[in-house]
Amino acid sequence: MPVSFNLAADLDAALRAAAARAGWADAAAFVPEVRVADVRHGDFQANGVLAHAKARKLNPRATAEQLVAALPAELRPAYAITIAGPGFINFTLQPAMLLAWLREFDSAAKLRAGAAAAHAGQTWVVDYSAPNTAKQMHVGHLRSAVIGEAICRLLEFTGARVIRDNHLGDWGTQFGKLIYGYKRWADPAALARDPIEELERLYKRGNDATPEGSPELEEARRELVKLQQGDPENVALWRKFSDVSLAAFQQIYDRLGIRFDHHLGESFYNDKLDRVYAELADAKLAENSQGALVVFHDEHPRFSRNAERPNPFMVRKADGASGYASTDLATALYRREHFQADGIVVVTDFRQADHFEQLILTVKKWFAAKGYRMPEFHHVTFGAVTDEDGKALKTRSGDVIKLKALLDEAEERAYAIVAEKNPEVPEPERRAIARVVGIGAVQYADLSQNRSSNYVFSWDKMLSLEGNTAPYLLYAVARIHSIFRKAGGPGNEAAATPPETPAEIILARKLTKFPDAIRLATETLRPHYLSLYLFELAGDYSSFNNADKVLVDDPGLRARRLLLCARTLLILETGLGLLGLRTVQRM
Ligand code: ARG
Repeated sequence: MPVSFNLAADLDAALRAAAARAGWADAAAFVPEVRVADVRHGDFQANGVLAHAKARKLNPRATAEQLVAALPAELRPAYAITIAGPGFINFTLQPAMLLAWLREFDSAAKLRAGAAAAHAGQTWVVDYSAPNTAKQMHVGHLRSAVIGEAICRLLEFTGARVIRDNHLGDWGTQFGKLIYGYKRWADPAALARDPIEELERLYKRGNDATPEGSPELEEARRELVKLQQGDPENVALWRKFSDVSLAAFQQIYDRLGIRFDHHLGESFYNDKLDRVYAELADAKLAENSQGALVVFHDEHPRFSRNAERPNPFMVRKADGASGYASTDLATALYRREHFQADGIVVVTDFRQADHFEQLILTVKKWFAAKGYRMPEFHHVTFGAVTDEDGKALKTRSGDVIKLKALLDEAEERAYAIVAEKNPEVPEPERRAIARVVGIGAVQYADLSQNRSSNYVFSWDKMLSLEGNTAPYLLYAVARIHSIFRKAGGPGNEAAATPPETPAEIILARKLTKFPDAIRLATETLRPHYLSLYLFELAGDYSSFNNADKVLVDDPGLRARRLLLCARTLLILETGLGLLGLRTVQRM
């Protein structure tokens, strides 16, 4: 019998077919509602019979019995099937089936092939990180990068073609002041040493030198207009600002394992805005309001023209200038037309929720009016990064924490732990391990918390070897590698017998739930569901390790325990990889 990757989906299909086979009048309307069950009740539970029977005034228990009787015979050896309470159907995987599943999914490629059905054939554009140029990335930029990358990997794993697009903030009025400052006070040595630091200094200096109403401000505005009109000198400067910014960002991205396919910043859309204005006006979506072009959504309490404080979507400002809304509208169209996106994900903090709600409402109506296909469009939000007292994370002196410094500190702190635990490991390897553990700790601490909550940043917690942390999981991985080193190579999987001891069975059952964790994390675009699964898996592995000796003499027993080790390793490494973490072989 072929073994499916996602057993819950399999059972769902079997139950639907059984309803038809049982001759139910409206079998097509039956929703089995198969869920992963609490381990004490089994592996999967179908809850849908109850609602179905009740709505039709049937006896739920009898209906469930009918359904179970109509299940295909080949399901019997795979599951123990029981009916509980008023009509819940419980399925418990039998040891032979556990072994069959573990045998079948023996490589990352197999896991991926199993998961790929969810988004096969689809193209998704993921817009994340997206810092503003000419400024350093600080701790506030961490979450979008880390969460966005995990989402890209989950979408890819589930079959999508993913386009990673860094929507840089590379356009706006600040460039007038920066050019003004640059032309007067640029220090070539400082620019060579740390270009972004110098650009930040020049912007501050330019800003201080151009107070409201001053002739200096007029001059800065002229620099901006020149840039907008394509003056070669100012355009060259602006391009230089983008280039040095990107080079600095890339150093951070390298450390986080991020590679963008495109850096289509706001400026890229400058020549694509007129079409947006024209089409929105044409469709009678946008209207003139005191010289500006705006969109109201009257069905929405806050975006309606009758709202207490009207807050329309600002498509074009009264002075004719474009803004954040204008470029995001053009961006949506470009992603649909040029990339043929089936899905768009934009990752920013929750403070942009209103902007994206208005954007999505507007794009829906606009695309409907023009007959363009509307992609699935998700704004993925996250909370702030705070210290343990819930306050915005700052340095001791109260400054924002630069991302580079934060990652440096993570590696330093991890090094102290690694050096202490591994005095015999050569120095370069200790450094390499510390990089993986340190950066992984920062990524994982973010990804293990529900992204809607604030990310409470605590060095001690994230670097602890206990609890739901990267060091704990990475250590579990390293421990399994060490077992294989001791075993002198992989086990003889063909000789493996079905799991038997309680700890073996619990671990094997947990391994078969990986597909569900992937499904949940991907459907909700919430990586913490995968983190939680990996943490629980590592716990079940650790219980197994404490209860059952792996390297025993009995060949069948040794083979099956090594098989469990190998699959735990595979799924931990695959899962951590999907979260953007690297792993190590010893730690
Ligand atoms: N540059 C923006 C910021 O720093 C984020 C851009 C997100 N993407 C977008 N398409 N608006 O807040």
